[in-house]
Amino acid sequence: MRAKLRIGALISGGGSNLQAIIDACEGGRVGGRMVFVGADTPGAKGLGRAKKHGIPTFVVDYGEVIRAFRRAPTPPSPADFDLQDVRAKQALFSDDRDPERDRHFFSSRAVAESRLLAAMAGFDFDLLVLAGFMRNLTPYFIDRVNTVPGEPRIMNIHPALLPAFPGVDGYGDTFRYGCKVGGCTVHFIDYGEDSGPIIGQKSFAITPRDTVDSVREKGLALEWQLYPECIQLFAEGRLKTVKLTYALPDRRTVQRSVVKIAV
Ligand code: GAR
Repeated sequence: MRAKLRIGALISGGGSNLQAIIDACEGGRVGGRMVFVGADTPGAKGLGRAKKHGIPTFVVDYGEVIRAFRRAPTPPSPADFDLQDVRAKQALFSDDRDPERDRHFFSSRAVAESRLLAAMAGFDFDLLVLAGFMRNLTPYFIDRVNTVPGEPRIMNIHPALLPAFPGVDGYGDTFRYGCKVGGCTVHFIDYGEDSGPIIGQKSFAITPRDTVDSVREKGLALEWQLYPECIQLFAEGRLKTVKLTYALPDRRTVQRSVVKIAV
């Protein structure tokens, strides 16, 4: 029998996706168990859900780290932080952005991320799931979790049919655009914002009777099915990330990392 997948989770809010994953593990629909839940704010309600199930929790207060960073003129960065390396790899901001803003963003996030990594080091885990974690992770963190080339192990759920509507309000953006179909996406994290290889998607119709709230409700109900399904595919070793090169009609070529699901 295959060993149970050890899953860690990061959250920022209510944790209904976290709950869906815990329930799927306990109900046998996911061959795994949740080994820790971390949050970026002490107020994250999902922490209570984890505690109810006896799952260890920790908090790295991003707000506090960022405020302290603003106050200190030369704030200490983690010893292994290399700003040039992180800036060269990141795909969150355009290259012509003010270098001082970049330095502030990536250095302060490295402080928070090094604390996350220190807290996570207390647990053995196979997969890290972002379940409503509302922070962009930087290459500093990603490279320290994804240590085997070609085998990503940080998943995210996003409330839109990516690559449409990345960012913080996927359902709102979908609704306001006038889309007739909405949906949710589970993908591996890469160095950009909601841009990594897609694992699974589910969609729903948006009718004239819908409001932004009903769109969110429909979407969340699908997220609770989709996330456990994708985690189970990972647990079964069926997700392979491959780099493909495509020829475009204008003869240029484009390279994408895509997830192939073994049948
Ligand atoms: C979910 O809709 C999730 O897709 C979204 O936050 C919500 C969290 O709900 N995530 C993002 O927007 C990530 N950029 P939950 O805390 O009840 O799981």
